[in-house]
Amino acid sequence: MRVLTGIQPSGDLHIGNYFGSIKQMVEAQKTSNTFAFIANYHAMTSVSDGNKLSELTMQCATDFLALGIDPEKSTFWVQSDVKEVLELYWILSSFTPMGLLERAHSYKDKTARGIASNHSLFSYPVLMAADILLFGAEVVPVGKDQIQHVEIARDIATKFNNKYGDILVIPEFRIQEEVQTVPGIDGQKMSKSYANIINIFGEEKKQLKTIKKIVTENVAMEEPKEYKNCNVYNMAKLFLEGDNLKELQDRYKRGGEGHGHFKIYLGEVMWEYFREFREKREYYEKNQNEVREILKIGATKAQNLAMPTIEKIRAATGIKY
Ligand code: ADP
Ligand code: TRP
Repeated sequence: MRVLTGIQPSGDLHIGNYFGSIKQMVEAQKTSNTFAFIANYHAMTSVSDGNKLSELTMQCATDFLALGIDPEKSTFWVQSDVKEVLELYWILSSFTPMGLLERAHSYKDKTARGIASNHSLFSYPVLMAADILLFGAEVVPVGKDQIQHVEIARDIATKFNNKYGDILVIPEFRIQEEVQTVPGIDGQKMSKSYANIINIFGEEKKQLKTIKKIVTENVAMEEPKEYKNCNVYNMAKLFLEGDNLKELQDRYKRGGEGHGHFKIYLGEVMWEYFREFREKREYYEKNQNEVREILKIGATKAQNLAMPTIEKIRAATGIKY
């Protein structure tokens, strides 16, 4: 089975990205044919400083490798290294009704938050459809916010196939129920665009400072506390299982501890959880040429895999004459 995901290099990777997408990809490597790429064209919708974008692209690749994307098992590349995706983006645009894009929550959400509306932000889901369809992906693991984009890709692919025959594979999204949406420090969806993130590879002190800003209910120290809707608990539970999780729930119910204590605990479990990944990251940080080489090999592999599909599409649409 072909499983594919992309991530934008638009800022530091955060725990929402990890639990919503990267972790699932790493696990999928054991059983599936996995495709992971850095969506740098997509990141242009929010990063307009050229140096910054190229830096973030390398940073994101380094992080991915540290977090367990294995270039031996996955095809791993940078989006802009396989230009056919832009060709498919244009071809698919002719099968994308305006209304489909006008209904996209992510676009509406971003513009409502004051992000300037331009064509690339609007047509973003079409490029994402091209990413998915070019590689014949059957499954796309995503966080809840991206479900609609995968549905848009399905709609576009169906329209295309109705016209030209069964060329495109209709993809499905996969969502990890318990981590649909990881909350940010303000309780909204954690997102690079909303300045509410806890990043994976931050410095310990800075991380703790951010954790201390997590919005919590105002309840006296001695009182029992509700854990279900608590942002600190909802983050901590991602790192805990079994007895450890039960023990945290009991601490909330028991009372006698403030949210400050739970925040310190969250800092500790998180730091421990990513320890091994941090060590791996240091290695790749020191060996950036190795990262570049991995990306180069990945791009060639991705391009070769895309060729039969794009050739079929060119022939069917009459672009090849
Ligand atoms: P951001 O919103 O920070 O820009 P991206 O849009 O680059 O993140 O998301 C990359 C992947 O991480 C997507 O699959 C997305 O669904 C997932 N993701 C992002 N934020 C969260 C979150 N808060 N909870 C769960 N998954 C998330
Ligand atoms: N839009 C995705 C996000 O912001 C990133 C992305 C681009 C993607 N192309 C993709 C995810 C293809 C999955 C498949 O999170």
